Amino acid sequence: MVEAKHRDTWIEISKRDVQKNVQLIREKTHASTIFFTVKANAYGYGLLQMAKACAEADVEGFACGALDEGLLLRENGYKQLVLMLGITPAKYAKLMAENDIISTVSSVEWLLDAHEYLLANGTTSKLKVSLAADTGMGRIGFTNRTCLENAINFLLKHQNSFEYLGINTHFSEADSVETDYFHMQLARWHKLTDGLPMPPLVHVANSGAAIYHTNHVPTDTLRIGTGILGMEPSEGTVMPDDYLAPVISLHSRLTFVKHLPAGEGISYAHEYTTQTDEWIGTLPIGYGDGWLNAMTGFQVLVGGEWAEIVGKIAMDQMMIRMPHEFPVGEKVTLIGTQGTHTITLSNASKHAKLPPWEFTSGFQDRIHRVLVVV
Ligand SMILES: Cc1ncc(COP(=O)(O)O)c(C=O)c1O
Repeated sequence: MVEAKHRDTWIEISKRDVQKNVQLIREKTHASTIFFTVKANAYGYGLLQMAKACAEADVEGFACGALDEGLLLRENGYKQLVLMLGITPAKYAKLMAENDIISTVSSVEWLLDAHEYLLANGTTSKLKVSLAADTGMGRIGFTNRTCLENAINFLLKHQNSFEYLGINTHFSEADSVETDYFHMQLARWHKLTDGLPMPPLVHVANSGAAIYHTNHVPTDTLRIGTGILGMEPSEGTVMPDDYLAPVISLHSRLTFVKHLPAGEGISYAHEYTTQTDEWIGTLPIGYGDGWLNAMTGFQVLVGGEWAEIVGKIAMDQMMIRMPHEFPVGEKVTLIGTQGTHTITLSNASKHAKLPPWEFTSGFQDRIHRVLVVV
């Protein structure tokens, strides 16, 4: 997709706030290895921009959803650890090995296949492996201790081809006030892994587990998304949602301004009609950017004053009703601060009736992302 650099709609990513969140998590957990989850364009924040901000905040690794995300990081010169979170087809074993990408593995069969691919392709690089244990997420991973042990033995026996670098699990409910399921998963983790040969990276904690269950889980290695992105994992239910620094803001500029009499229809299907004489501004952002149609009625900021989004949101444009005239080019803030008012990401995602990470994951690549120092 084209990144629209010549359009006045952009996301600002604050390096200072990324650093603050990394520091907060580091101080709380004393982790020596933090993987930042860059998957899905870093939850829509911007993969390369967030990678840069995290690298500057001394994050040790990146966790990916698709192999191409890891390859993109390598192409851009990142030397940090790169971990695949899901299962990558065994036929890419060589590609992963040669790009020093850690493969997450859930079966001995996968290892057998990958071994054949590595031998057939005559690769000299070892494939780093993290073994996944499914303790109740029900997604990927070993559920049987004997199979897990067989996988470990296979890795240890074939050290010319593999490096047994990690073992992991993923909690399905680490961010809830209800902790029974979390503790059930933790008990299964111990039952599955206690006494087995452990690799250097034992990583079980996402943001919720790292922040709320610091004393229950190993925290030397973490996989963190929401926490570094400044989104409170429980949306304020387990802890107040103000201790993380908000990392992004979203802005646009007026492209067109008009004064309309009462009774004029605005946008498709003219679902909104001006009530009186009104100043209507047009902005170059729409549902094609991931700014969903559900955002109609949401209040944005122009010149430090509130302005409501009126009418249907179109693919590339939307209209706002302004308290008075503003010039073309005036900055409008959709998420962030103007003057004494702030629109939080959570204000916006609640309007769309989505969790913040689901809302931002929909932000399209075409929104220009800018890294700022503060
Ligand atoms: C396996 C795995 N680990 C870690 C994370 C990061 O989770 P969070 O954003 O809650 O920190 C995810 C995200 O979904 C994940 O799937």
